[in-house]
This record gives sequence, C-alpha cells and structure tokens, in this order.
Amino acid sequence: MFKKLSIAAIAALTLTSGAFAAGSYDTHIEDFDFSFEGPFGKFDQNQLQRGLQVYTEVCSACHGLKYVPIRTLADAGGPHLPEDQVRAYAAENFEVYDEALEDTRPATPVDNFPENNGANAPDLSMMAKARAGFHGPYGTGINQFLKGMGGPEYIASLLTGYTGEEKEEAGVTLYENKAFPGGWISMAPPLYGEDVDFADGHSNDLHHISEDVSAFLMWTAEPKMMARKQAGFVSVFFLSILSVLLYLTNKKLWAPIKAKARKED
Ligand code: HEC
Repeated sequence: MFKKLSIAAIAALTLTSGAFAAGSYDTHIEDFDFSFEGPFGKFDQNQLQRGLQVYTEVCSACHGLKYVPIRTLADAGGPHLPEDQVRAYAAENFEVYDEALEDTRPATPVDNFPENNGANAPDLSMMAKARAGFHGPYGTGINQFLKGMGGPEYIASLLTGYTGEEKEEAGVTLYENKAFPGGWISMAPPLYGEDVDFADGHSNDLHHISEDVSAFLMWTAEPKMMARKQAGFVSVFFLSILSVLLYLTNKKLWAPIKAKARKED
C-alpha cells in the first residue's frame, strides 16, 4: 500500500515539474524587501498611501481595481486614511455610473474603484496574488514561503525590468522586459522615476515608486493579511498549550498502569 502510494506521489511530482519546465522562461525577478514579509511582517501605512497615489496618478489611467471598495482605504492595517479624506479622494478622482440616476456621478466611499477602461489592461485588484515571483524548485511554489518572493516582487520587478528595447509585431508595439514571461509586454513602461511627488518627501526614484505601488497592490489583493497572521499566532499558541495539557494528561492516565507493570517485572 505504502509503496503504491509513494510511486504515485513520485509520478505526480515528476509530471508537474515536467509541465512547469516546459512553460518556464528565463525571467529575472528581483528580491525586494517588503515590510509585510515573514511571520511578523506588517503593511507600512505610509507606503500604502504612497502606493495609492502612484496607482491613482499613473496606473488608474489604464487599470481598474473593481473588487476593491473605496471605503477600505480607511481601514486600520491598510492605508488608514481619515474618513473625510477618503470621501474627498473618491469624489475627486473617480466617476461611477449610477443606475438610479441613469447618469454618472462622483464616486463615494461605498462604491468600488472603477473597472479598467484601458485597452487590454487587466484589472489589478488580485494581481499580486495571481502572479508569483518565483516558483521554487520544480515549480513547487515553496520559494515564496522560504524567501518571501511572491506577486509583489514580480510586479516591482516588472515595473523596473524594462530594457528600453521595442519591437512591432502585427501592428502592436512590444517592449522588452526582463520580468515578463516571454520577455515582451504590450504595456509601455508606465514609470520612469519622479513620476509623482510625495507629500512626505519620500524618495520617488523608479525603484521606490515601483516598490510602493506593488505594496499597495499586495494590500488590495490581501487586505486582511495582518488579521490572518494574527489569527495564525493565536491558534498556534492555543495548540501549544493543548499539546502540553494532552502530554500531561497522557502521563497521568498511564502512570498507575506503568507502575503496576514495573512491580510485576
Ligand atoms: C497606458 C496604459 C497602461 C498604464 C498607464 C499602466 N498599464 Fe499595466 N498594463 C497595460 C496593458 C495593456 C497590460 C497587458 C500587457 C500584456 O499582457 O502584454 C498591462 C499589464 C500589467 C500587469 C500584468 C502583467 C502580467 O503579468 O500579465 C501589471 C502587474 C501591470 N500592468 C501593472 C501596472 C502598474 C502597477 C501600473 C502603474 C504604475 C501600470 N500597469 C500602468 C497598460 C497599462
């Protein structure tokens, strides 16, 4: 039985790694250090606010965030903006179509961010979870766990990975990019550095703004990451106490029987 199972497991592993190898390209993903990596990692509120600004001023021209409610910008653990600022932000930046009015109106915090309107630009709400930085040995996906390299690294590497080469293919301009699978992407380089000015005077070079917007997109994809980590700790803590109690109970239950056995020896 065991032998059969292990043969099946080995066969499954070999098959999946073979499939991965066939689809892999020689891409380069840089290992960015994000504040939310590791078991104690947290989102950096200021970084999320800067990332929101980059998204709003640059990426939102083409990409939507249709699964993200605007009101969550006020959430603790997220960008944590004051509520009146969220209201002003929604009204200033986005228009939504209101079925009741049969017309468009300025967005309010109860609306979601609008869908994308740019040609062929995918929605970015879940992008940081949909992409992996690194698949690990044989496509096992284990390196994200070991090295903390996931979707945000991929996005930051994509934004910083343009080589400057372009080519035309079937009427579409493609841009060479070291992080994009296949090496050529139809998104023109959206950031060059100094594209936005931050109120907190934080560096706005290409590396930093790419990192900031990627952190923000990690938050949109997993807004409850901190709550999840915390719940994990609480359960591990209680499980440890439970194990100690079970160990002691076990000892106590068997003590008389062991004592008897010893006497009979
Ligand atoms: C001028 C329009 C435009 C702007 C501005 C723009 N993008 Fe894109 N983006 C695209 C298009 C088009 C694609 C699809 C590219 C493809 O699949 O070849 C894309 C794809 C992507 C992808 C997915 C890549 C993949 O693995 O499939 C990510 C991530 C992304 N953009 C992030 C951003 C970020 C972050 C910004 C802002 C800093 C931004 N984009 C600004 C047009 C744009």
